[in-house]
Amino acid sequence: MPRGEPFKIKMVEPIRLIPREEREAAIRRAGYNIFALRSSEVYIDLLTDSGTGAMSQEQWAAMMRGDEAYAGAASYFRLRETVEAITGYPYVLPTHQGRGAERVVLPNLITRPGMYVLSNMFFDTTRAHVQLAGGRPVDLVVPEAADTETEYPFKGNMDLNRLEAFIQEHGRENIACIVMTVTNNSAGGQPVSMANIRATGEIARRYGIPLLFDAARYAENCWFIKQREPGYADKSPREIAREMFSYGDGMMMSAKKDGLVNIGGLVAFRDQELYEKVGGLLVPYEGFLTYGGLAGRDMEAMAVGLMEALDADYLAHRVGQVEYLGRLLRDAGVPIQWPVGGHAVFVDAKKFLPHIPPEQFPGHALTIETYIEGGVRGVEVGSLMIGRDPETGKQLPSPFEFMRLAIPRRVYTSRHMEDVAETLIRVYQRREKVRGVRFTYEPKVLRHFTARFEFVD
Ligand SMILES: Cc1ncc(COP(=O)(O)O)c(C=O)c1O
Repeated sequence: MPRGEPFKIKMVEPIRLIPREEREAAIRRAGYNIFALRSSEVYIDLLTDSGTGAMSQEQWAAMMRGDEAYAGAASYFRLRETVEAITGYPYVLPTHQGRGAERVVLPNLITRPGMYVLSNMFFDTTRAHVQLAGGRPVDLVVPEAADTETEYPFKGNMDLNRLEAFIQEHGRENIACIVMTVTNNSAGGQPVSMANIRATGEIARRYGIPLLFDAARYAENCWFIKQREPGYADKSPREIAREMFSYGDGMMMSAKKDGLVNIGGLVAFRDQELYEKVGGLLVPYEGFLTYGGLAGRDMEAMAVGLMEALDADYLAHRVGQVEYLGRLLRDAGVPIQWPVGGHAVFVDAKKFLPHIPPEQFPGHALTIETYIEGGVRGVEVGSLMIGRDPETGKQLPSPFEFMRLAIPRRVYTSRHMEDVAETLIRVYQRREKVRGVRFTYEPKVLRHFTARFEFVD
C-alpha cells in the first residue's frame, strides 16, 4: 500500500506559524478564546472538520455547469440521482446545511409537545431542533462510549436493550422517531456497526416508528464497517452504504462533512408522504424544492463530493490520517480517546492535566496552551461547552474533559500531523505548569463561542 496522500496539490493556500510573542499577544487579545482568533493567526486549524475540506478538480469542474434555474434545475436532478444511487431513497430535498435539514424535518414528526425522539446520540443542533419542535431528546448510546481506553470497535452503537425498554415503558405513540447518528459525533466520531443498525431498524419497524439517519459522516462509518465488521471486508463502501440506508426510512445530512463541500445539506426519504410534508416547510424556510437554499453550482459540487467520499483510497487515507495522529500521540503517552474516531482525535484533558479541576476547564486550558505552543487550534469539548442548567444556573456535570482536534478533509498532509503531535508532546512535557482559567465574561447562551477568560494563579 502506498503511504502518501492519494492526491497531488494543484492550488495552494499559504499558512504560516507566526512567532511565539505574536501568538501570545493574539490569544491575549482574543480574551483567551480560540473562537476570537483570526485564521491568519493560526498555523494548523483543527477547530472543525465541517465545511473546511478541499474540493477536488472534478467538483470545481462540475460547478461550471451549475444550472441556476429557480425551479427544476438540471443540477438538482443530478444531485437527486446521486443521492438515490447511494441511499436508495428517491425523494430528495437540498438544504443550506445540516441544521436546515433538521429544521424542516423534525417538526413534521414531533406532532405533539412532549414526544420523545430517541438516538444513539444527538449532535447539539439536532438536539436543539428536537427541543424547539417541542420534543424530548433521549441519548441511548452503549456504555462503552464513555470508556476512553477499551478497544471496543463500535463505541457509537445504540444500546438496543435500553431502546426497546424505553419504547415499551413510554409507549410507541409517544415516540416521534429514532435518529441514528453515523458516525456518532458526540461520542468522538465513533462508528456504529451494521448489525446494530440492522437491529435498530428491526425494532423501529416492529413498533412502527420511523428511523432516520443523521448521515453527516456516513462514508467514514461505512469504512469502519468494512475494516472492523466480519463479512464486510470485500464489499465496497458504496455497497455498504446502500445496505446501511436500507434499514431506515430516510436521512438528514450536513454535506459539509462527507459531502466534501464547504456548504450544503440534504434530506432524503423512502416515501412520498414525509417528503411532501417536509417540502411544505422547506419552501418558506430554505427555498423552493429544487434548490433549498443552495446555488445550482453548490448542488453540482455536492453530487460529485458524495461519491468521492465513498472512494476506498480516499477513505483509507482520511481515516488513516486521523489514526496516524492518534498513534503519534498515544505512543508518546499523551492520553487520548482510543480507538480514535473517523474525523477527530479527542485528547483526554482530565488525565493530561489532573491538577486542573473541571471548574477551571482543563480542556480549554489545554487548547490555549496548544495554540501558544505551536499555533495549532483545537477546541474544548467538556464542562465549558456543556454549560449551565438553564433552570438552576448551576454548572452541568460533564462526563469528560476533552480537547478535540478535528481534521479537515484533504487539507493537511501527514507532515502537518507530525507538527501537531510534536506541539502537543511539548505541552505534555511541561504539563504541570499549565494553569486553569476562569471567566472574565460569561455570556448566558452558547457561552463557549464568545466568553473571555483569564488564568487562575
Ligand atoms: C452529526 C451532525 N449532525 C448535524 C450537524 C449540523 O450540521 P451543520 O453544521 O451543517 O448545520 C453536525 C455538524 O457538525 C453534525 O456533526
